[in-house]
Amino acid sequence: MPKITYVAHDGARTDVDVTEGENAMHGALFNGVDGIVGECGGALACATCHCYVDESWIAKVGGPSSQEEQDMLGIAAAEVKPNSRLGCQIVISDELDGLVVHTPDRQY
Ligand code: FES
Repeated sequence: MPKITYVAHDGARTDVDVTEGENAMHGALFNGVDGIVGECGGALACATCHCYVDESWIAKVGGPSSQEEQDMLGIAAAEVKPNSRLGCQIVISDELDGLVVHTPDRQY
């Protein structure tokens, strides 16, 4: 099962196992990781799953997967950076085993 490390704004790291096919938002919620809210349940309607893909993973994960994701990032509460993604749009696969995701200082 792929492992994801979530790094909080204060630097605290949490390693969790995430089922392949799940997304990085659910990976946080199902494992009690703070910093990702996922208010809309992954329907691309809230941006409270905003996160930053670690620089070492951005080439593999890539940028926003759709215009809708790009548009929703526009309403994210925290600063949007080149490595910003919506966690609900990052689908976890074995290729992403070891992924490191940083959570922003706020989602509202
Ligand atoms: S959970 Fe709402 S946009 Fe990702």
